[in-house]
Amino acid sequence: QRAIGILTSGGDAPGMNAAIRAVTRAAIFAGFKVFGIMRGYKGLITDEIEEFSTQNVSNIIQRGGTILKTARCKEFQTKEGRQCAYDVLQRHGISALVVIGGDGSLTGARIFANEFQFQIIGLPGTIDNDLYGTDSTIGYDTALNTIMDCVDKIRDTATSHERLFFIEVMGRDAGFLALNGAIASGAEAAIIPEVATQEDQLDELIANGFRKSKNSSIVLVAESPSTGGAMGLAERVKKEYPNYDVRVSILGHLQRGGSPTAYDRILASRMGAAAVDALLDDQRNVMIGIKNDEIVYVPFTKAIKNDKPINRELMSTLRRLSI
Ligand code: F6P
Repeated sequence: QRAIGILTSGGDAPGMNAAIRAVTRAAIFAGFKVFGIMRGYKGLITDEIEEFSTQNVSNIIQRGGTILKTARCKEFQTKEGRQCAYDVLQRHGISALVVIGGDGSLTGARIFANEFQFQIIGLPGTIDNDLYGTDSTIGYDTALNTIMDCVDKIRDTATSHERLFFIEVMGRDAGFLALNGAIASGAEAAIIPEVATQEDQLDELIANGFRKSKNSSIVLVAESPSTGGAMGLAERVKKEYPNYDVRVSILGHLQRGGSPTAYDRILASRMGAAAVDALLDDQRNVMIGIKNDEIVYVPFTKAIKNDKPINRELMSTLRRLSI
């Protein structure tokens, strides 16, 4: 009987549990043994591994976070660490892995797969949506909805006090959450790393008189050194426009929590089942993606190395709708 391992790695994302459930159940359905590996690559090295039955994954589809726990593991970046991980897998008779994570986790998977000729299937699990070759990543839709709810609430107080709010959202170096969050919440603008410099974006905003016809304004800012962050932008505006009543709100890790949306649960379930299909199909070094509602296989080299482009049409839409 063939044995496979499953782990979650890097920043957690809502829907990871739904993915763990789907991989486990589809794999058992296909006749595999399934091992849950705790704490990502860390638990792989330290042998925190347990065989899973269908029961281990019951009642988790609706839960945020990951029952397998997660970690960012420095040791796996070394040859010795990866050798240790390989030895552990050999001991358990595990011949393939499903890795759920973002850019860093799939980079680790790619290196390991090449080094040991090991079969690995990746699932894109990150709220950032920054993996090339997939329209959406597991957790992105839930985070977007959380951002929308938060901005709706902030807008109440922004309107009452007639204030200008800079709201910082996650995304590492990607502006998907900021741009789509801005459209969903009717914000005036999004400042994102994919576009020119933060000075240009802010100047353009002010030149367009974004406060002229409005008593309050909301600007979503993607966290990234290149945007200057919400704090940096607010400081600049306070200095140059002392008449603006400026406030900052950094949403932080609440964006990573919560029960996954229906979209993320279905996406994770489809991708999890597709990961098992990919194993049966003898695919290796691919990430499961979704394109125009079809499951696709994206080679690791493409998913990780390429910068996923921002849809310019969304920027134009935001600009036109915020007049
Ligand atoms: O990759 C997901 C993410 O939430 C990013 O948006 C953010 O930059 C980072 O993880 C934060 O990481 P940590 O939880 O380790 O501080």
